[in-house]
Amino acid sequence: MNSVTVALAIYGLESELERELIYRNIRFEKHDRLYFLDTDYRPLFAQATWIACQKISITSIGDGIKKLKALGKNWALFSIGNRRRAQLIQEGLPTIKTDPIPFLAQAPKYTMGGWTLLDATTIICSPQTTSRYPLGKTEFIENKTVPPSRAYLKLWEFFTIHCPPPAPKTKVIDMGACPGGWSWVLSQLNLEVISIDKAPLDPTIAKSHNITFLQESAFGLDPKKISGVEWLFSDIICYPERLLALVKKWITESSVQHFVCTIKFQGEADFAVIDEFLKIPNSKMVHLYHNKHEVMWWK
Ligand SMILES: C[S@@+](CC[C@H](N)C(=O)[O-])C[C@H]1O[C@@H](n2cnc3c(N)ncnc32)[C@H](O)[C@@H]1O
Repeated sequence: MNSVTVALAIYGLESELERELIYRNIRFEKHDRLYFLDTDYRPLFAQATWIACQKISITSIGDGIKKLKALGKNWALFSIGNRRRAQLIQEGLPTIKTDPIPFLAQAPKYTMGGWTLLDATTIICSPQTTSRYPLGKTEFIENKTVPPSRAYLKLWEFFTIHCPPPAPKTKVIDMGACPGGWSWVLSQLNLEVISIDKAPLDPTIAKSHNITFLQESAFGLDPKKISGVEWLFSDIICYPERLLALVKKWITESSVQHFVCTIKFQGEADFAVIDEFLKIPNSKMVHLYHNKHEVMWWK
């Protein structure tokens, strides 16, 4: 196959990538967790995608190093075979930064390439990938003391990589807020936060001066009764169809302009409902590095 694109499957979610490619009628060839595609497609269920791939013949390790260096500055290896040889080539390339980053870190200046050794004399590579971090791994310098759950890392990643946060004092609503990781992030950004959950919020988070907590179901809330909200966040555990109906209700009946929601799948991912979300104007969707069997949709 003449591969144009190579997608790195998310560990443990390889079957979702395969289902997605079949659903979209995209032919693929699988090499370990790398999926070689014959078309330019950036899958949702990929940790990173290598765009505009090239096949290069090499005569030696030194030749591989020279040819990769000529094509780009940053290279991350995903090994599928000839591991020792591949490692020696990687060691001859400029060292890439793998240190955890702080929340809202500036994006690295240079693009991140991806490469693999298909056999002893063939490199498949792309100097451009969908992530500026090696193989899409976006690790943060974590706060292990305050946030009551690791869910806060999803919002950190979202605001750091995909979309700048709202301006301070903006009124936002956080649905499915318990125990309070997202509400903590939003409150730290000096937003005016209304947190909703059927379960109680962690007491430390609940006492933040800019958080108002309503202990009730998000589905029972009347959008017309909550004025001035500009952003709606949802990490509610519910069926995707139920979330879609909630989003549509808030689009038509409230002042909310921006939506950031986790779509959680109980069994296999439902691509028909994913497409329904994507039909909403200005929609975007990504599988975050910190998402599990779920994706982030925003508008
Ligand atoms: C994954 S947790 C959210 C984690 C949270 N974002 C955090 O950062 O700590 C999902 C939450 O959805 C809540 N939930 C489920 N059904 C709900 C409903 N009808 N209304 C509001 N919250 C609901 C659950 O109580 C649970 O706390």
